[in-house]
Amino acid sequence: MKLSLYCESKSETITHFFKSVFAESEGETEGQIIAEFVANLIETTKPQDLIGCIAEEKQVILGGIFFSRLIVPSGQLAFILSPVAVSTAVQGTGIGQKLIQYGLDHLRSLNVNLVFTYGDPGYYSKTGFIQINENIIKAPCPLSQPIGWLAQSLDGQEIQAMPGSTRCVEALNDPNLW
Ligand SMILES: CC(C)(COP(=O)(O)OP(=O)(O)OC[C@H]1O[C@@H](n2cnc3c(N)ncnc32)[C@H](O)[C@@H]1OP(=O)(O)O)[C@@H](O)C(=O)NCCC(=O)NCCS
Repeated sequence: MKLSLYCESKSETITHFFKSVFAESEGETEGQIIAEFVANLIETTKPQDLIGCIAEEKQVILGGIFFSRLIVPSGQLAFILSPVAVSTAVQGTGIGQKLIQYGLDHLRSLNVNLVFTYGDPGYYSKTGFIQINENIIKAPCPLSQPIGWLAQSLDGQEIQAMPGSTRCVEALNDPNLW
């Protein structure tokens, strides 16, 4: 399996990939919603604020993830992981974790301090994410599932409480996604 960074020439393929994974696991409507989100993320985010990673086997995409810039009140460099998808046929074989780890290593190489995500704590704890309370760091939109607000430090420093608001990229700034 080859892990690599997303590049613009793969925008259609990766959007279609997310659509089919979510359609298969959660239904056509979710597939459509995620496809619109990914297309929007790619289209409206400044290239330096978007990092994608892809897992491929013989040029077939098996997994994809995106990190986008999150502005935090401390001024530290932060990104948020969303979305994540692994091809239905190979789910549960470790690809998601390998891909996230690859992305985190890349973020470390860029001196990113903090990474966030919003999802199942049981899954994301496998790659180092911990639950954080919104009293420590606020999420950019109201959370329908506060237990899913997760973060990890990439620079060895403890996560510090930081009063103030956070700001995500435009594509993520949609209350329906939270
Ligand atoms: C969720 C998803 C990305 C996980 O990727 P994956 O490659 O299948 O997962 P991995 O093989 O890396 O990890 C498997 C482990 O995670 C657990 N796991 C997998 N999906 C999980 C989930 N949704 N919630 C909790 N645990 C999960 C498995 O039980 C397994 O645990 P074990 O190692 O203790 O046996 C993948 O199943 C997927 O694409 N699902 C559909 C889309 C989705 O829900 N994306 C996440 C929201 S953006």
